Amino acid sequence: MRLDKYLSDMGVSNRNEIKKNIRHGKVSVNGQTVKDPGFHVSLDDQIVYLGETILYEEYVYYMINKPAGVVSASMDKKAKTVVDLIDERSRKDLFPLGRLDKDTVGLLLISNDGLLAHRLLAPKFHVDKTYFARIDGVVEDDMVAKFASGFKVDDSLEALPSKLKIISSGQISEVEITIHEGKFHQIKRMFEAFDMKVIYLKRLEFGPIKLDENLEEGQYRRLTSSELESLKKI
Ligand code: URA
Repeated sequence: MRLDKYLSDMGVSNRNEIKKNIRHGKVSVNGQTVKDPGFHVSLDDQIVYLGETILYEEYVYYMINKPAGVVSASMDKKAKTVVDLIDERSRKDLFPLGRLDKDTVGLLLISNDGLLAHRLLAPKFHVDKTYFARIDGVVEDDMVAKFASGFKVDDSLEALPSKLKIISSGQISEVEITIHEGKFHQIKRMFEAFDMKVIYLKRLEFGPIKLDENLEEGQYRRLTSSELESLKKI
């Protein structure tokens, strides 16, 4: 692989800046300064860019506590995206594994591993997703059985069985809900079927991964190796 591509893939800077720095002698390969951006390197060469050793990582995996107001996309002409929030390096190949609505907060995974994304998001995998929700309305006990058996939500959605746990019921109710699918606005639509509005929605779990409570909204961290292993076992 070309030296400038290696560095660009790792998101150290943009391609022009990288080329300039290489030409100016700011990059070494195995201890030797290299001034040719097209110099061929392999993945086990030691590359130092502006004094920092840059290891080649083919795949990266993050969890983010998504804040409200950002969209679950890699790029958007108008709105800020979840990928924009990953600022440790500007890799160009990151994307969110699935979607949360713009006003939904909580756990979202971000990676560049297309194969894993494909597997996790394939409908037949039915990864469990657990949410905390605040509902405008009184969530009655009999809804638990309805959610458990599945029900017709609207003309285009027949909800599969899901788990509803009532935390508190009142004018504003609080619930936890686990669904196995992820249709557009699914949870909001499920409550709309009971004439209730979801006023706050936060994803807590995605399959075996739980939102790290130490992450404030907008913060992210790499997945640990055991989290990653558990995800790949699904
Ligand atoms: N269900 C919704 O309605 N919105 C989300 O963001 C996720 C699940």
